[in-house]
Amino acid sequence: MKNKKIIAFLSAAILVTTMFAGCGTKATTDGAKATPTATDTSKKKVIGFAQVGAESGWRTAETASIKTIPTLDPTFELKFSDGQQKQENQIKAIRSFIAQKVDIIALDPVVENGWDTVLKEAKDAKIPVIIVDRGVKVSDQSLYAGFLGSDMEAEGKKVAKILVDKFGKAAKLNIAEIQGTVGSSAMVGRQKGFKEGIADCPNYKIVKSQTGDFTRAKGKEVMEAFMKSDGNNINVLFSHNDDMAIGAIQAIEEAGKKPGKDIYVVAVDGIKEYFQFMVDGKANATVECNPLLGPQLLDTAKLILAGKPIDRWVKSKEGVFTAAQATAELPNRKY
Ligand code: AHR
Repeated sequence: MKNKKIIAFLSAAILVTTMFAGCGTKATTDGAKATPTATDTSKKKVIGFAQVGAESGWRTAETASIKTIPTLDPTFELKFSDGQQKQENQIKAIRSFIAQKVDIIALDPVVENGWDTVLKEAKDAKIPVIIVDRGVKVSDQSLYAGFLGSDMEAEGKKVAKILVDKFGKAAKLNIAEIQGTVGSSAMVGRQKGFKEGIADCPNYKIVKSQTGDFTRAKGKEVMEAFMKSDGNNINVLFSHNDDMAIGAIQAIEEAGKKPGKDIYVVAVDGIKEYFQFMVDGKANATVECNPLLGPQLLDTAKLILAGKPIDRWVKSKEGVFTAAQATAELPNRKY
């Protein structure tokens, strides 16, 4: 009888132990739940996002899209850092994400070079890194899992094609170029693609070229200087983004010229506000660059965390818009 009682007690003890084994929380003596353990599958997955800054309408739209991630999937949490257009701030943010043991790091790099050391630190900490929007140049491709974003060179080529379609290859064009942030893949790629695109147009000359750092204020400042030195000579403005073009349009008007007529204005991004300038006849064309990357980032993070393969480069799909399409397209713009 005594033996039967001992066997019954041991069986019950084994059952209770088995019930708690593999469970993500430890049972305390009073039955309450304690802190979740590392095996707790109900714990939220954390993405640390190192953003460039808030320099343009495009950037504001990208930030808003990234910040939808926890709403799209409440099992995800987002930690967001604004780098204020400084690589050192972005490096600090990545180090902080590593210290906080986030599950995924997403980096939108202000410039292409100089990431090897910090990406190696993330790799050593076994935290996968997804590069978003702008590309990086690294010595070892295994330092990041994949890249989501636009083909910046293709965008530059599309700008060139807009000019060729409009003016023909034999036209004589004096082009002013306002570049984006020096050393960013957006600036490097758009400039390279554009130069390649006009290579067989012997009379297309880039007469002025300077950076406006992708901001409206600097775009205006740069164009003011261009107008002073070459105002009567320039007949095309190629701005690496819409915001700098909007600043430049103001400078052109202040210099007594008509943007969109005296100077053909073409830019990149496709923000709503620039569409209004096209509708008003002050800008002529834009090449779309899609900032709505939040859903793609979430999908990519999920694949990585599930141990599934991802594409090395998930390219954004983008169009080209001229002033002729602007009125019809304006109500459809999502950013
Ligand atoms: O990297 C994308 C570029 O950065 C956008 O064209 C520009 O508006 C932004 O600041």
